[in-house]
Amino acid sequence: MALLGASGSIGRQAVDVIAAQPGLALCALSSGSTPLDDLAAAHGVEHVQVGGDVTALLDASEPDVVLNAIVGFAGVRATLWSLERGVTLARANKESLVAAGELAVAAWARGGGLLLPVDSEHSAVFQCLEGRPRETVDSIVLTASGGPFRDRSRAELESAGVEEALAHPTWSMGPKITVDSATLANKGLELIEAHFLFDLPYDSIEVVVHPTSVVHAIVRLRDGAALAHLGYPDMRVPISFALTYPSREPTPLAQLDFASGLTLEFHEPDLEAFPLLALAREAGERGGTFPCAFNAANEAAVQAFLDGRIRFLDIDGAVSDVLARVDGSPAHDLDDLVEADRSARDLVAVA
Ligand SMILES: NC(=O)c1ccc[n+]([C@@H]2O[C@H](COP(=O)([O-])OP(=O)(O)OC[C@H]3O[C@@H](n4cnc5c(N)ncnc54)[C@H](OP(=O)(O)O)[C@@H]3O)[C@@H](O)[C@H]2O)c1
Repeated sequence: MALLGASGSIGRQAVDVIAAQPGLALCALSSGSTPLDDLAAAHGVEHVQVGGDVTALLDASEPDVVLNAIVGFAGVRATLWSLERGVTLARANKESLVAAGELAVAAWARGGGLLLPVDSEHSAVFQCLEGRPRETVDSIVLTASGGPFRDRSRAELESAGVEEALAHPTWSMGPKITVDSATLANKGLELIEAHFLFDLPYDSIEVVVHPTSVVHAIVRLRDGAALAHLGYPDMRVPISFALTYPSREPTPLAQLDFASGLTLEFHEPDLEAFPLLALAREAGERGGTFPCAFNAANEAAVQAFLDGRIRFLDIDGAVSDVLARVDGSPAHDLDDLVEADRSARDLVAVA
Protein backbone atom coordinates (compact mmCIF):
# COMPACT_ATOMS: atom_id res chain seq x y z
CA MET A 1 0.00 0.00 0.00
CA ALA A 2 0.93 3.64 -0.49
CA LEU A 3 0.93 5.73 2.69
CA LEU A 4 0.48 9.41 1.86
CA GLY A 5 1.07 11.85 4.71
CA ALA A 6 3.27 9.26 6.43
CA SER A 7 4.86 11.78 8.81
CA GLY A 8 1.55 13.02 10.27
CA SER A 9 -0.62 11.90 13.16
CA ILE A 10 -2.66 9.41 11.08
CA GLY A 11 0.40 8.43 9.04
CA ARG A 12 2.43 7.49 12.12
CA GLN A 13 -0.45 5.53 13.64
CA ALA A 14 -0.91 3.74 10.31
CA VAL A 15 2.76 2.71 10.40
CA ASP A 16 2.09 1.05 13.79
CA VAL A 17 -0.95 -0.78 12.42
CA ILE A 18 0.94 -1.92 9.31
CA ALA A 19 3.94 -3.11 11.35
CA ALA A 20 1.62 -5.34 13.41
CA GLN A 21 -0.09 -6.91 10.35
CA PRO A 22 2.02 -9.38 8.39
CA GLY A 23 -0.43 -9.17 5.47
CA LEU A 24 0.24 -5.46 4.89
CA ALA A 25 3.31 -4.07 3.13
CA LEU A 26 4.26 -0.53 2.19
CA CYS A 27 5.30 0.26 -1.39
CA ALA A 28 5.26 4.09 -1.30
CA LEU A 29 5.56 6.91 1.24
CA SER A 30 4.97 10.66 1.03
CA SER A 31 5.12 13.75 3.22
CA GLY A 32 4.86 17.50 2.69
CA SER A 33 8.40 18.39 3.82
CA THR A 34 9.45 15.90 6.55
CA PRO A 35 12.30 13.59 5.50
CA LEU A 36 11.23 9.94 5.28
CA ASP A 37 14.59 8.19 4.78
CA ASP A 38 14.55 6.29 8.09
CA LEU A 39 10.97 5.10 7.66
CA ALA A 40 11.62 4.05 4.07
CA ALA A 41 14.74 2.14 5.10
CA ALA A 42 12.95 0.43 8.00
CA HIS A 43 10.17 -0.82 5.69
CA GLY A 44 12.25 -1.39 2.56
CA VAL A 45 10.24 1.19 0.60
CA GLU A 46 11.70 2.29 -2.70
CA HIS A 47 9.14 4.90 -3.80
CA VAL A 48 9.33 8.03 -1.63
CA GLN A 49 8.20 11.59 -2.29
CA VAL A 50 8.61 14.67 -0.13
CA GLY A 51 6.45 17.58 -1.32
CA GLY A 52 4.73 18.13 -4.65
CA ASP A 53 2.03 16.25 -6.56
CA VAL A 54 1.88 12.60 -5.44
CA THR A 55 0.28 11.22 -8.60
CA ALA A 56 3.69 10.45 -10.17
CA LEU A 57 4.57 8.48 -7.02
CA LEU A 58 1.31 6.53 -7.30
CA ASP A 59 1.86 5.86 -11.02
CA ALA A 60 5.34 4.54 -10.32
CA SER A 61 4.53 2.41 -7.26
CA GLU A 62 1.21 0.90 -8.49
CA PRO A 63 -0.33 0.32 -5.02
CA ASP A 64 -3.29 -1.99 -4.34
CA VAL A 65 -4.39 0.33 -1.54
CA VAL A 66 -3.85 4.05 -0.99
CA LEU A 67 -4.10 5.49 2.51
CA ASN A 68 -4.60 9.20 1.97
CA ALA A 69 -3.54 10.86 5.25
CA ILE A 70 -2.44 14.16 3.71
CA VAL A 71 -4.01 17.18 5.40
CA GLY A 72 -6.11 19.65 3.44
CA PHE A 73 -6.92 20.31 -0.22
CA ALA A 74 -3.43 19.00 -1.05
CA GLY A 75 -4.99 15.51 -0.78
CA VAL A 76 -7.42 16.03 -3.69
CA ARG A 77 -5.23 14.62 -6.48
CA ALA A 78 -4.49 11.39 -4.60
CA THR A 79 -8.20 10.86 -3.85
CA LEU A 80 -9.20 11.40 -7.48
CA TRP A 81 -6.29 9.26 -8.75
CA SER A 82 -7.40 6.29 -6.60
CA LEU A 83 -11.13 6.63 -7.22
CA GLU A 84 -10.72 6.98 -11.00
CA ARG A 85 -8.61 3.81 -11.21
CA GLY A 86 -10.70 1.70 -8.82
CA VAL A 87 -7.73 1.39 -6.45
CA THR A 88 -8.94 0.81 -2.87
CA LEU A 89 -8.86 4.16 -1.10
CA ALA A 90 -8.61 4.33 2.69
CA ARG A 91 -9.33 8.02 3.06
CA ALA A 92 -8.50 10.01 6.16
CA ASN A 93 -8.18 13.20 4.12
CA LYS A 94 -11.72 14.52 4.52
CA GLU A 95 -11.03 17.82 2.78
CA SER A 96 -10.69 16.07 -0.60
CA LEU A 97 -14.19 14.60 -0.51
CA VAL A 98 -15.64 17.87 0.74
CA ALA A 99 -13.92 20.01 -1.89
CA ALA A 100 -14.14 17.62 -4.83
CA GLY A 101 -17.65 16.34 -3.91
CA GLU A 102 -19.43 15.52 -7.18
CA LEU A 103 -16.16 15.07 -9.12
CA ALA A 104 -15.00 12.50 -6.56
CA VAL A 105 -18.32 10.65 -6.53
CA ALA A 106 -18.32 10.51 -10.36
CA ALA A 107 -14.71 9.21 -10.39
CA TRP A 108 -15.66 6.60 -7.76
CA ALA A 109 -18.59 5.42 -9.90
CA ARG A 110 -16.36 5.16 -13.00
CA GLY A 111 -13.53 3.40 -11.13
CA GLY A 112 -15.82 1.07 -9.17
CA GLY A 113 -13.31 0.53 -6.33
CA LEU A 114 -13.65 0.53 -2.56
CA LEU A 115 -13.78 3.83 -0.67
CA LEU A 116 -13.20 3.16 3.02
CA PRO A 117 -13.47 6.02 5.50
CA VAL A 118 -10.66 6.54 8.01
CA ASP A 119 -12.55 8.95 10.19
CA SER A 120 -13.94 7.47 13.38
CA GLU A 121 -17.46 8.78 12.73
CA HIS A 122 -17.66 7.73 9.09
CA SER A 123 -16.07 4.37 9.76
CA ALA A 124 -18.76 3.91 12.42
CA VAL A 125 -21.58 4.86 10.03
CA PHE A 126 -20.09 2.62 7.32
CA GLN A 127 -20.11 -0.32 9.74
CA CYS A 128 -23.66 0.34 10.99
CA LEU A 129 -24.93 0.61 7.38
CA GLU A 130 -23.11 -2.44 6.03
CA GLY A 131 -25.43 -4.99 4.47
CA ARG A 132 -28.54 -2.96 5.29
CA PRO A 133 -31.06 -2.11 2.54
CA ARG A 134 -31.01 1.64 1.99
CA GLU A 135 -34.78 2.03 2.32
CA THR A 136 -34.56 0.82 5.94
CA VAL A 137 -32.29 3.74 6.91
CA ASP A 138 -33.97 6.84 8.32
CA SER A 139 -31.02 9.10 9.21
CA ILE A 140 -27.56 9.21 10.75
CA VAL A 141 -26.15 11.04 13.75
CA LEU A 142 -22.52 12.17 13.88
CA THR A 143 -21.11 12.82 17.33
CA ALA A 144 -18.80 15.72 18.17
CA SER A 145 -16.65 15.88 21.28
CA GLY A 146 -17.22 19.64 21.28
CA GLY A 147 -13.47 20.24 21.48
CA PRO A 148 -11.60 22.19 24.15
CA PHE A 149 -14.09 25.11 24.13
CA ARG A 150 -17.26 23.02 24.36
CA ASP A 151 -18.85 24.87 27.28
CA ARG A 152 -17.77 28.38 26.34
CA SER A 153 -20.10 31.10 25.12
CA ARG A 154 -19.12 33.30 22.17
CA ALA A 155 -18.07 36.08 24.55
CA GLU A 156 -15.84 33.63 26.43
CA LEU A 157 -14.12 32.70 23.15
CA GLU A 158 -12.84 36.27 22.63
CA SER A 159 -9.54 35.46 24.28
CA ALA A 160 -9.10 31.87 23.02
CA GLY A 161 -5.46 31.33 22.11
CA VAL A 162 -3.56 28.85 19.92
CA GLU A 163 -2.26 26.74 22.79
CA GLU A 164 -5.73 26.24 24.29
CA ALA A 165 -7.22 25.48 20.87
CA LEU A 166 -4.61 22.76 20.36
CA ALA A 167 -5.41 21.07 23.70
CA HIS A 168 -8.09 18.61 22.56
CA PRO A 169 -9.80 16.82 25.47
CA THR A 170 -10.25 13.36 23.89
CA TRP A 171 -8.36 13.02 20.56
CA SER A 172 -4.67 13.47 19.77
CA MET A 173 -4.44 14.78 16.18
CA GLY A 174 -2.56 17.10 13.81
CA PRO A 175 -2.87 20.89 14.39
CA LYS A 176 -5.29 21.72 11.55
CA ILE A 177 -7.96 19.16 12.50
CA THR A 178 -7.49 20.02 16.19
CA VAL A 179 -8.34 23.68 15.53
CA ASP A 180 -11.23 22.50 13.31
CA SER A 181 -12.51 20.51 16.28
CA ALA A 182 -12.35 23.60 18.47
CA THR A 183 -14.40 25.68 15.97
CA LEU A 184 -16.70 22.73 15.00
CA ALA A 185 -15.59 23.24 11.35
CA ASN A 186 -14.41 19.63 11.59
CA LYS A 187 -17.96 18.46 12.18
CA GLY A 188 -19.10 20.70 9.32
CA LEU A 189 -16.56 19.05 7.01
CA GLU A 190 -17.72 15.65 8.26
CA LEU A 191 -21.34 16.54 7.53
CA ILE A 192 -20.49 17.28 3.89
CA GLU A 193 -18.22 14.22 3.76
CA ALA A 194 -21.09 12.00 4.98
CA HIS A 195 -23.44 13.47 2.38
CA PHE A 196 -21.14 12.41 -0.47
CA LEU A 197 -19.93 9.16 1.06
CA PHE A 198 -23.32 7.73 2.01
CA ASP A 199 -25.46 9.55 -0.57
CA LEU A 200 -27.69 11.02 2.13
CA PRO A 201 -29.55 14.34 2.00
CA TYR A 202 -28.37 16.94 4.50
CA ASP A 203 -31.62 16.84 6.46
CA SER A 204 -30.94 13.15 7.21
CA ILE A 205 -27.61 13.95 8.89
CA GLU A 206 -27.70 15.25 12.44
CA VAL A 207 -24.81 16.38 14.65
CA VAL A 208 -24.85 16.06 18.44
CA VAL A 209 -22.25 16.92 21.03
CA HIS A 210 -21.05 13.89 22.99
CA PRO A 211 -18.17 14.92 25.29
CA THR A 212 -16.56 11.53 25.97
CA SER A 213 -16.25 10.52 22.27
CA VAL A 214 -17.20 6.90 23.03
CA VAL A 215 -20.18 6.72 20.65
CA HIS A 216 -18.73 7.54 17.23
CA ALA A 217 -21.97 7.58 15.25
CA ILE A 218 -25.55 6.33 15.26
CA VAL A 219 -27.73 5.08 12.41
CA ARG A 220 -31.48 5.42 12.90
CA LEU A 221 -33.62 2.85 11.09
CA ARG A 222 -37.18 3.36 9.87
CA ASP A 223 -38.68 1.00 12.47
CA GLY A 224 -37.47 3.18 15.35
CA ALA A 225 -34.31 1.20 16.17
CA ALA A 226 -31.00 3.05 16.42
CA LEU A 227 -27.61 1.36 15.99
CA ALA A 228 -24.63 2.97 17.69
CA HIS A 229 -20.94 2.27 17.19
CA LEU A 230 -18.88 2.50 20.37
CA GLY A 231 -15.18 2.44 21.16
CA TYR A 232 -12.53 4.37 23.03
CA PRO A 233 -11.26 7.32 20.97
CA ASP A 234 -8.25 5.76 19.21
CA MET A 235 -7.70 6.20 15.49
CA ARG A 236 -5.84 2.90 15.23
CA VAL A 237 -9.24 1.17 15.28
CA PRO A 238 -10.69 2.82 12.13
CA ILE A 239 -7.24 2.70 10.47
CA SER A 240 -7.01 -1.04 11.14
CA PHE A 241 -10.62 -1.58 10.04
CA ALA A 242 -9.94 0.09 6.67
CA LEU A 243 -6.55 -1.52 6.07
CA THR A 244 -7.67 -5.05 6.91
CA TYR A 245 -11.18 -4.76 5.44
CA PRO A 246 -13.18 -6.96 5.37
CA SER A 247 -11.36 -9.37 7.70
CA ARG A 248 -11.27 -7.03 10.75
CA GLU A 249 -7.98 -8.26 12.16
CA PRO A 250 -7.29 -8.02 15.93
CA THR A 251 -5.55 -4.98 17.44
CA PRO A 252 -3.73 -4.80 20.79
CA LEU A 253 -6.17 -2.12 22.01
CA ALA A 254 -8.29 -2.33 25.16
CA GLN A 255 -11.90 -3.49 24.94
CA LEU A 256 -14.56 -1.12 26.25
CA ASP A 257 -15.04 -1.50 29.99
CA PHE A 258 -18.72 -0.95 30.78
CA ALA A 259 -18.44 -1.96 34.45
CA SER A 260 -16.12 0.91 35.34
CA GLY A 261 -18.71 3.49 34.20
CA LEU A 262 -19.11 5.04 30.78
CA THR A 263 -20.71 8.45 30.45
CA LEU A 264 -22.96 8.64 27.40
CA GLU A 265 -24.28 12.18 27.40
CA PHE A 266 -25.55 14.01 24.30
CA HIS A 267 -26.69 17.54 23.64
CA GLU A 268 -27.30 20.00 20.83
CA PRO A 269 -24.33 21.96 19.45
CA ASP A 270 -24.23 25.68 20.23
CA LEU A 271 -24.46 27.18 16.75
CA GLU A 272 -24.22 30.73 18.02
CA ALA A 273 -20.83 30.15 19.63
CA PHE A 274 -19.68 27.85 16.80
CA PRO A 275 -21.26 29.12 13.55
CA LEU A 276 -18.97 27.10 11.24
CA LEU A 277 -21.12 24.02 11.62
CA ALA A 278 -24.18 25.87 10.29
CA LEU A 279 -22.09 27.56 7.58
CA ALA A 280 -20.86 24.15 6.41
CA ARG A 281 -24.41 22.81 6.25
CA GLU A 282 -25.47 25.84 4.24
CA ALA A 283 -22.47 25.48 1.87
CA GLY A 284 -23.28 21.79 1.42
CA GLU A 285 -26.93 22.48 0.67
CA ARG A 286 -26.03 25.20 -1.86
CA GLY A 287 -23.78 22.66 -3.63
CA GLY A 288 -21.52 23.49 -6.59
CA THR A 289 -18.14 24.74 -5.37
CA PHE A 290 -19.54 26.25 -2.14
CA PRO A 291 -18.17 23.28 -0.13
CA CYS A 292 -14.79 23.76 -1.86
CA ALA A 293 -14.86 27.46 -0.94
CA PHE A 294 -15.86 26.64 2.64
CA ASN A 295 -12.91 24.27 2.93
CA ALA A 296 -10.41 26.61 1.25
CA ALA A 297 -11.41 29.63 3.34
CA ASN A 298 -11.31 27.55 6.50
CA GLU A 299 -7.85 26.15 5.69
CA ALA A 300 -6.47 29.62 5.02
CA ALA A 301 -8.09 31.10 8.14
CA VAL A 302 -6.91 28.24 10.40
CA GLN A 303 -3.36 28.71 9.12
CA ALA A 304 -3.61 32.44 9.82
CA PHE A 305 -4.83 31.67 13.36
CA LEU A 306 -2.00 29.16 13.95
CA ASP A 307 0.48 31.77 12.69
CA GLY A 308 -0.92 34.32 15.13
CA ARG A 309 -2.23 36.62 12.38
CA ILE A 310 -5.92 36.45 13.35
CA ARG A 311 -7.92 35.66 16.50
CA PHE A 312 -9.90 32.48 17.10
CA LEU A 313 -13.22 34.26 16.52
CA ASP A 314 -12.00 35.69 13.21
CA ILE A 315 -11.90 32.20 11.66
CA ASP A 316 -15.66 31.87 11.16
CA GLY A 317 -15.94 35.52 10.10
CA ALA A 318 -13.37 34.90 7.35
CA VAL A 319 -15.20 31.81 6.08
CA SER A 320 -18.59 33.51 6.17
CA ASP A 321 -17.20 36.49 4.26
CA VAL A 322 -15.72 34.26 1.53
CA LEU A 323 -18.94 32.27 1.15
CA ALA A 324 -20.83 35.52 0.63
CA ARG A 325 -18.46 36.58 -2.14
CA VAL A 326 -17.94 33.46 -4.29
CA ASP A 327 -20.41 32.41 -6.99
CA GLY A 328 -20.13 28.69 -6.16
CA SER A 329 -20.52 27.61 -9.78
CA PRO A 330 -19.91 23.87 -10.24
CA ALA A 331 -16.46 22.53 -11.13
CA HIS A 332 -16.44 20.50 -14.35
CA ASP A 333 -12.93 19.19 -13.88
CA LEU A 334 -9.91 19.33 -11.59
CA ASP A 335 -8.69 22.60 -13.13
CA ASP A 336 -12.01 24.29 -12.24
CA LEU A 337 -11.74 22.92 -8.72
CA VAL A 338 -8.17 24.11 -8.24
CA GLU A 339 -9.26 27.55 -9.44
CA ALA A 340 -12.26 27.60 -7.04
CA ASP A 341 -9.94 26.62 -4.17
CA ARG A 342 -7.35 29.25 -5.08
CA SER A 343 -9.81 32.10 -5.52
CA ALA A 344 -11.52 31.33 -2.19
CA ARG A 345 -8.12 31.33 -0.44
CA ASP A 346 -7.23 34.63 -2.08
CA LEU A 347 -10.40 36.17 -0.64
CA VAL A 348 -9.39 35.43 2.94
CA ALA A 349 -8.38 38.88 4.02
CA VAL A 350 -5.72 38.58 6.69
CA ALA A 351 -3.02 41.04 7.62
N1 LIG B 1 -5.46 12.94 13.27
C1 LIG B 1 -6.62 12.34 13.38
O1 LIG B 1 -6.89 11.72 14.41
C2 LIG B 1 -7.61 12.38 12.25
C3 LIG B 1 -8.87 11.80 12.43
C4 LIG B 1 -9.76 11.78 11.36
C5 LIG B 1 -9.41 12.34 10.16
N2 LIG B 1 -8.19 12.93 10.02
C6 LIG B 1 -7.83 13.56 8.75
O2 LIG B 1 -6.63 12.97 8.28
C7 LIG B 1 -5.86 13.95 7.59
C8 LIG B 1 -4.48 14.03 8.23
O3 LIG B 1 -4.62 14.51 9.55
P1 LIG B 1 -3.41 14.49 10.59
O4 LIG B 1 -4.01 14.85 11.89
O5 LIG B 1 -2.65 13.22 10.45
O6 LIG B 1 -2.55 15.71 10.04
P2 LIG B 1 -1.00 16.04 10.30
O7 LIG B 1 -0.52 15.38 11.54
O8 LIG B 1 -0.85 17.49 10.17
O9 LIG B 1 -0.25 15.32 9.07
C9 LIG B 1 -0.46 15.75 7.76
C10 LIG B 1 0.37 14.97 6.79
O10 LIG B 1 0.19 15.56 5.48
C11 LIG B 1 1.47 16.00 4.98
N3 LIG B 1 1.27 17.22 4.20
C12 LIG B 1 1.02 18.47 4.69
N4 LIG B 1 0.90 19.35 3.66
C13 LIG B 1 1.10 18.64 2.52
C14 LIG B 1 1.14 18.99 1.16
N5 LIG B 1 0.93 20.25 0.74
N6 LIG B 1 1.37 18.02 0.26
C15 LIG B 1 1.59 16.75 0.64
N7 LIG B 1 1.57 16.35 1.94
C16 LIG B 1 1.33 17.29 2.87
C17 LIG B 1 2.31 16.24 6.21
O11 LIG B 1 3.69 16.22 5.87
P3 LIG B 1 4.75 17.08 6.77
O12 LIG B 1 4.91 16.34 8.05
O13 LIG B 1 5.99 17.06 5.95
O14 LIG B 1 4.16 18.44 6.93
C18 LIG B 1 1.87 15.06 7.08
O15 LIG B 1 2.50 13.87 6.65
C19 LIG B 1 -6.65 15.25 7.67
O16 LIG B 1 -7.40 15.42 6.50
C20 LIG B 1 -7.57 15.05 8.85
O17 LIG B 1 -8.77 15.78 8.75
C21 LIG B 1 -7.29 12.97 11.04
